Amino acid sequence: MTQTAVQRFYRFHAYVYDFTRWMILHGRARAVAMLRLRPDSAVLEIGCGTGLNFRHVLQYLDPSCGRLTGLDFSADMLERARRRVARHDWRCVELVQDDASTFSRDQRYDAILFAYSLTMIPDWPGALRRAREHLRPGGRVAVLDFGMFSGWGPLKPVMRGWLKLNHVQTHESYVEEMRKVFGNVRVQHWLGGYNFTAISENAGAGPGH
Ligand SMILES: C[S@@+](CC[C@H](N)C(=O)[O-])C[C@H]1O[C@@H](n2cnc3c(N)ncnc32)[C@H](O)[C@@H]1O
Repeated sequence: MTQTAVQRFYRFHAYVYDFTRWMILHGRARAVAMLRLRPDSAVLEIGCGTGLNFRHVLQYLDPSCGRLTGLDFSADMLERARRRVARHDWRCVELVQDDASTFSRDQRYDAILFAYSLTMIPDWPGALRRAREHLRPGGRVAVLDFGMFSGWGPLKPVMRGWLKLNHVQTHESYVEEMRKVFGNVRVQHWLGGYNFTAISENAGAGPGH
């Protein structure tokens, strides 16, 4: 299979990810809290990377009935996630290698998380639609990602340009698309537009329900 530019990017970055990203990727616990998880929730993280959000999700789950699926298309990032899961003996975590824009699972989820992944997915509207298809009625999707740096003055183009070099697109209408796909969205912007959290609920009956 031909690797995409992002998969190639993470062949190297997988090794340094956990040591470097704490400086720039914030707001994980807050985004997970917005999912309102229960002990028996079934959770899907799309673009889970090395699994840095897993502990935030798992603190809400009862390992005997809750379930967390981490999906990513990078084998290198998933290998790091697999080691993390083994190290902590997290038996209710399952890892899946698949593309966010095209995946199809038999299961439906109570909550879906995109943490700093949506802005890296070329067909991100497709990924939101896949999420919608896999969300149970009443389920929630949370997106945590980089914003447009609107309050950053002259640093705005610098930050956005630097992110673009790292395959992160900050100019798309992510929140508007969530409103279109899910029919509702609540958004909060943080640190002058550095990042945002957006929450949508699946108000309708999904397939299989
Ligand atoms: C910045 S990392 C975020 C990882 C993790 N969610 C976190 O918060 O640390 C973005 C992740 O999205 C994954 N990704 C990007 N495009 C994807 C796609 N089309 N399908 C599945 N995963 C994708 C990358 O492989 C990478 O692991």
